[in-house]
Amino acid sequence: MARKKIIAGNWKMNMTPSQAVELINTLKPLVVNDDVDVLFCVPAIDIIPAMEAAKGTNINIGAENMYFEDKGAYTGEISAEMLVDAGVKYVIIGHSERREYFAETDETVNKKVLKALENGITPIICCGETLTQREQGVTIDFIRQQIKIAYLNVTAEAAATTVIAYEPIWAIGTGKVATTEQAQEVCKAIRDCIAEIYDDATAAAIRIQYGGSVSASSAPELFAQPDIDGGLVGGASLKVDFGKIVCYNK
Ligand code: 13P
Repeated sequence: MARKKIIAGNWKMNMTPSQAVELINTLKPLVVNDDVDVLFCVPAIDIIPAMEAAKGTNINIGAENMYFEDKGAYTGEISAEMLVDAGVKYVIIGHSERREYFAETDETVNKKVLKALENGITPIICCGETLTQREQGVTIDFIRQQIKIAYLNVTAEAAATTVIAYEPIWAIGTGKVATTEQAQEVCKAIRDCIAEIYDDATAAAIRIQYGGSVSASSAPELFAQPDIDGGLVGGASLKVDFGKIVCYNK
């Protein structure tokens, strides 16, 4: 069965609640594409107003992060249960900015993935190499390590429902998009790694996005690659351009 594309915006730390509603109202007529699952991952405080603004549209609202404990004395954190109660079905886990600025590790990523799955939330699991790692030729080794640890104790059945975002760190917010060949090569290596951990059916089911300076002009070629099932879009998801990215095949 062909995998349905999933194109997600990652708003990062942008948009106040009222700006969020305004942006959704602007984008909703522009992001209609039945071939694609459309998702806006928004700051926690924007989730509820964004849900309301997206009601009756094809836009799903997701979170950018969550904590791996159920509840308790974790000031400032958001639990899976809170996300579920707000109607959230997707959460980004282990974005490179969370790893870099908030000390997330492969191990905390794994705990969050397990907690999201336990609560019926689809994790979008981020991986990606630094420029040094790419230049030293260790990209694939590094990413295989990230993937293998992220999926520890995840069953094949659950793994098949997850989404992976390959985001080379050197391409994030730099305007320097990976070449189509580079992106496809790593996305294929990720799929091969999943086949190794699980089996071919799981590898064939899992959706793998590319992220890193995706734009309306780079999207069509990237998303046409056999192992790229959509994108995780930062900067361009805050503009009307996101409509063109979602409708890349029209
Ligand atoms: P940019 O599209 O701004 O490069 O960000 C990519 C990203 O980090 C999405 O998660």
